[in-house]
Amino acid sequence: MLNVAIIGTGNISRLHLEAYLAFPDRCAITHLVDIYPEKAEQKKLDFKLPNAKVFSSHKDILNDPSINLVSICTPPYVHAEIAIDFLKAGKNVIVEKPMAASLEECDAMIKAARESGKIFSPIAQNRFRDPIMNLKTVLDSGKIGKVVHAQVDSFWWRGHSYYDLWWRGTWEKEGGGCTLNHAVHHIDMLGWMLGLPSKVSAVMSNASHDNAEVEDISVAIMQYGGGVCSKGALAQVTSSVIHHGEEQQVIFQGEKARISAPWKIAASISMENGFPQKDGNPPLEKELNDYYNSLPHLTHIAHTGQIDNVLKAIETGGDFLIKGEDGRLTIELITAIYKAGSEGKTIDLPIQKDDPFYTVKGIMSHVPHFYQKTGSVQDFAGNISVGSDYNKK
Ligand SMILES: NC(=O)c1ccc[n+]([C@@H]2O[C@H](COP(=O)([O-])OP(=O)(O)OC[C@H]3O[C@@H](n4cnc5c(N)ncnc54)[C@H](O)[C@@H]3O)[C@@H](O)[C@H]2O)c1
Repeated sequence: MLNVAIIGTGNISRLHLEAYLAFPDRCAITHLVDIYPEKAEQKKLDFKLPNAKVFSSHKDILNDPSINLVSICTPPYVHAEIAIDFLKAGKNVIVEKPMAASLEECDAMIKAARESGKIFSPIAQNRFRDPIMNLKTVLDSGKIGKVVHAQVDSFWWRGHSYYDLWWRGTWEKEGGGCTLNHAVHHIDMLGWMLGLPSKVSAVMSNASHDNAEVEDISVAIMQYGGGVCSKGALAQVTSSVIHHGEEQQVIFQGEKARISAPWKIAASISMENGFPQKDGNPPLEKELNDYYNSLPHLTHIAHTGQIDNVLKAIETGGDFLIKGEDGRLTIELITAIYKAGSEGKTIDLPIQKDDPFYTVKGIMSHVPHFYQKTGSVQDFAGNISVGSDYNKK
């Protein structure tokens, strides 16, 4: 039986609590920590955890030998500090997205994880959804040929008041805008499936939230030099919190066919004159659909899927899917968008350690501060939503 501590008992902690409670024979939630301990007390009541102990600082429980695993559900600006403290104390750690606000912080977290020998897994829960897991499997099968174009529509919508929560809307505490905090999910998918591009260009803007320092839209173009991509392949990534309807999708155009999440395929073959045949390529379309439909379904999805994956790794000593290096790759892509968007030029990857964008301090002094943050609400009532399930509508 593994004992679990939740650090930060706000909105997203609910999904961690539900996930751990789905495995009552494998783990118990024993510690709840929040700088507003009344929020932790409320979760203790809501989730019927009479034996859970409440604390107001994660430092109070660092040396509690009964704790095996920690879920960090705090705002981004303290992810690195809290994760490193627990790794150094010998605990396994899950940290909410975004893993951190800079590559420097990511590297320090990865180092602490390596030195501790403990499991460290940044949240990218959408990998644990059939349409995403199976899209990756089809892509890896090579059936669509090399990727020539990717389209990532990370379309979200958030009202003006969203940025009135105390830690949102500043480079210092939120670490960035929609590119870091919303598109992180889709940029993780892109990095997982295609790896690191060689060059990134981007424009970032704030079109609709004059109460936030950070961007509410960015549009990036990534250039790839090989691997699963053809030489010359491009990806276009739109990160936004100003898109009504939140139609999120990831589309890969391969040399032979198009596939996507939500699942949809098309395959063109050429007539003698180079124009596409009217009926496409039915045998390949059938092969792709049959293959996709033959793939297994996940037993547990989203946060529950990732938490099950981590619990299994602790229980068995086996491998787990999402590691610090995965979270770092996502942050490197996002940092590249911020650097390209701030400097107004195409930049080369990887980002070097002496680059100003390697550190939080450097990012903060080079990015545009679009507006001043105005409101500072301690907490909002009401539920949150966490995006698409990538099933066909
Ligand atoms: N995976 C997802 O789909 C998803 C969705 C929403 C939010 N998130 C992420 O979860 C994290 C939290 O977001 P949220 O929406 O739950 O915010 P929230 O404000 O509702 O909750 C954060 C909680 O952390 C507490 N806190 C702040 N600093 C702390 C510290 N140093 N020690 C202990 N507690 C502290 C706050 O008091 C608050 O209760 C963010 O990183 C966010 O990006 C992930």
